[in-house]
Amino acid sequence: MIGRLNHVAIAVPDLEKATETYRDVLGARVSQPQPEPDHGVTVVFVDLGNTKVELLHPLGEASPIANFLRNNPSGGIHHVCYEVEDIIAARDRLKAQGARVLGDGEPKIGAHGKPVLFLHPKDFMGTLVELEQV
Ligand code: CO
Repeated sequence: MIGRLNHVAIAVPDLEKATETYRDVLGARVSQPQPEPDHGVTVVFVDLGNTKVELLHPLGEASPIANFLRNNPSGGIHHVCYEVEDIIAARDRLKAQGARVLGDGEPKIGAHGKPVLFLHPKDFMGTLVELEQV
């Protein structure tokens, strides 16, 4: 059911430093910081060719990653995003198997302008999973 790895999201306490690390130490292609006020984050995209890393930094008071950074002050992997062809079919299949969908269970428009859902980390080996319809 799941397809390609769309991205790995890493929450970072210092976006400039994280960007420099990916650009200068790891030699990766990085984007300019992109504010996403609707999602409470500023994102730097790291283009790896076969997939992306997204460096996430809190934006605004109600950022969904603020708590994560409080618990992980040096940053860490926040979620992985897998592509699916039909997000409603994927959701229904997962729910039928007992997986918990976060929020009200309805897909939201994600940071790439496409429908996304998040799955409870406790059902997926401690990893927050995002599904994105492509
Ligand atoms: Co994501």
